[in-house]
Amino acid sequence: MNYFPTYLAIDEAFCNRKEELSRMIYNLKGNAPVLLISPRRFGKTSLALQAFKQIKWPYAHVDLYKALSQEDIEKYILNGVGNLLGQLESTPKKLLHLAGDFFASLQIKVVLEKAGVKLEFNQNKISATDTILKSLEKLHEIAKNKKKHVILFLDEFQVVGEIAKNNSIEAAIREAAQKSTHVAYIFSGSNRHLIEEIFNDKKRPFYKLCDHIKLNRINQDEYTKYIQAAFKEIYKDIINQESLKIIFELTECHAYYINKLCSLLSQNKILAHSKEILITWQRFVLENKSSIERELALLSLNQRKLLIFLANEPRITGLFSKELTQQVNLTSSSIQRAIATLIEKDYVYIDENKFYKILDPLIKDVLNNKF
Ligand SMILES: Nc1ncnc2c1ncn2[C@@H]1O[C@H](COP(=O)(O)OP(=O)(O)O)[C@@H](O)[C@H]1O
Ligand SMILES: [Mg+2]
Repeated sequence: MNYFPTYLAIDEAFCNRKEELSRMIYNLKGNAPVLLISPRRFGKTSLALQAFKQIKWPYAHVDLYKALSQEDIEKYILNGVGNLLGQLESTPKKLLHLAGDFFASLQIKVVLEKAGVKLEFNQNKISATDTILKSLEKLHEIAKNKKKHVILFLDEFQVVGEIAKNNSIEAAIREAAQKSTHVAYIFSGSNRHLIEEIFNDKKRPFYKLCDHIKLNRINQDEYTKYIQAAFKEIYKDIINQESLKIIFELTECHAYYINKLCSLLSQNKILAHSKEILITWQRFVLENKSSIERELALLSLNQRKLLIFLANEPRITGLFSKELTQQVNLTSSSIQRAIATLIEKDYVYIDENKFYKILDPLIKDVLNNKF
């Protein structure tokens, strides 16, 4: 058993998130669309898949992250629909027949594949928006006739806002989602700024469509129980409080980094103690230094300057005092612009004590020269 997966955490590897899970299940059963929001790698996809496993409805996971054009979005969504049809129809022959009927009026060719059906598009087809709306409506009809509930999970949905020139795809999905009783719609988004533009703007179709579930970090007490139990299984030995404290300090309970660090530690033959934990993290930081530096090179000089400053000063509350602007060596208006972008891009967040904090503990440690 992999206790600390660095891809998705489901089944036994899924830690806590009990409240979010039950809210997901409640919404699924109540036919309410859901939006999952958090920065990258906090656990949106894991939570969604875990909820789908619990409720045991067929689902299609449509990851829009790699969509580069409106056509890609359309293709990905329709393949999700094809995948669901595959789960609604038991034999390949019936499926081909059903899907053939289903897509014929949309001028889409259907090819049978292992995971349902694959769709091939005709260049002169009807508009993308129409195709999406009609397919979603038909999917609903079929699910309803079969008295089955299915789930369409549109992951990394901010891409739609980024790519689509107008709101027509959103409008089509909203229309289908509002009428649907047998297709449940789950959306997720990592870029807060783009997601808020899509879902919180009164003028756009998704305004007030979904129950918004914001994922925070999993709390230390839950992780303590989980990590203790996992290391006990692996080493038949108990990880001490001091070691746990160091793990939490280094990773700041960021879901991905907790798993990354613990998975590196569990490669050792014996249970690691504080010193080895620190060395392991240090090695990890150094190994990733150049790729982080490449990523940060894309920020403006002022943004980088401010980020480096915050990496070294973890207890900053006000950013615009004269003393501070001198210290950072930027004008107060430059700081204002830089911090707005850093927050918008999820590099920085304001914590419960109103401190400006760097969101990613790896980036923080690459920048603060502690190692
Ligand atoms: N509930 C959880 N319990 C344990 N680890 C988790 C949990 N949720 C996420 N993780 C870990 O965090 C990382 C990112 O999870 P993922 O679901 O891909 O996040 P997102 O979809 O928000 O980018 C993965 O390494 C995963 O193993
Ligand atoms: Mg994800």
